[in-house]
Amino acid sequence: MTISNYYVLITGASSGIGRACAELLASRGVKVYAGARKQDDINKLNKIENIIALEIDLTKQDTIDNAIDYIKTQKTGLDVLINNAGITRAGPLMELPIEDLYEQFEVNLFGLHRITKAVFPLLLESKGKIIMISSDSGFFATPFFGPYCSSKFALEGYSDSLRRELLIFGVKVVIIEPGRVNTSIWQKGEELLKILLERLKGSIFEKIAKEVGEYAIEKGKTEGLNPREIAKLVYKIIHIKEPKTRYLIAPDKLRYRLIKILPDKIIDKKFEKEFKKIK
Ligand SMILES: NC(=O)c1ccc[n+]([C@@H]2O[C@H](COP(=O)([O-])OP(=O)(O)OC[C@H]3O[C@@H](n4cnc5c(N)ncnc54)[C@H](OP(=O)(O)O)[C@@H]3O)[C@@H](O)[C@H]2O)c1
Repeated sequence: MTISNYYVLITGASSGIGRACAELLASRGVKVYAGARKQDDINKLNKIENIIALEIDLTKQDTIDNAIDYIKTQKTGLDVLINNAGITRAGPLMELPIEDLYEQFEVNLFGLHRITKAVFPLLLESKGKIIMISSDSGFFATPFFGPYCSSKFALEGYSDSLRRELLIFGVKVVIIEPGRVNTSIWQKGEELLKILLERLKGSIFEKIAKEVGEYAIEKGKTEGLNPREIAKLVYKIIHIKEPKTRYLIAPDKLRYRLIKILPDKIIDKKFEKEFKKIK
């Protein structure tokens, strides 16, 4: 199959990593079905060569059904689903309204399941690939990002089960675990932090949550990878016959390797020390 014969569907293509993937793949001749929620984003994406934008809101089954019906009527088939769309909910778990946890999982896991299930018959036909945009938060649970980390850990479990279920059917499931990436997720984080801090007034967690939140946002905005780097990796994976099950992409891979092998208690001590200083 030549490169230009590939058809991919990307969720959350309006900004950040999804947008970078849509642009880079399309510029290299891949045919991209790009999911977005807002008409304005759909219009902008449709102006790019090799991109067909489709309204997809992972919380709305009808938008998913319509998009998949459309792809079926095009008779192009589908080679790759890139499950990219995601949101972040954060804050101390002991102050977290259950609704935030529902919202978090509604998009990052339940929504992802909705679209994966809907797309599966096309991928079965093409013996295609499902690429999951997970996160370093899918194996390293940082404090005050409990909802987000829980959803990404859940995604990792979901993906491992799915990969093994599909082994004999020729559909590959690949997880990408980016570290920080400089996208609008951090601007959205700033807005969410403001709301959170209002809610946390007088809470025992107020001070630490503020410092941790501000630190994470600052780091994401100043040290995050360019989303194009993730897009290049996605492009590579699309074209590899036997991809790895997981790809960690971060500038400080050694730190993550250490995190993976160090005993929990050692990492906990580090957090404890930092938080005592703030308290
Ligand atoms: N940035 C990072 O540091 C980082 C690191 C590791 C992993 N990730 C993961 O990378 C993925 C993309 O994040 P990003 O950093 O590129 O953030 P982003 O710029 O905020 O992009 C998120 C995308 O998801 C879409 N989305 C949100 N809710 C949706 C819903 N209900 N249905 C469909 N689409 C929805 C957004 O659409 P709207 O524009 O309509 O809201 C947007 O297109 C996420 O899964 C995130 O967890 C990010």
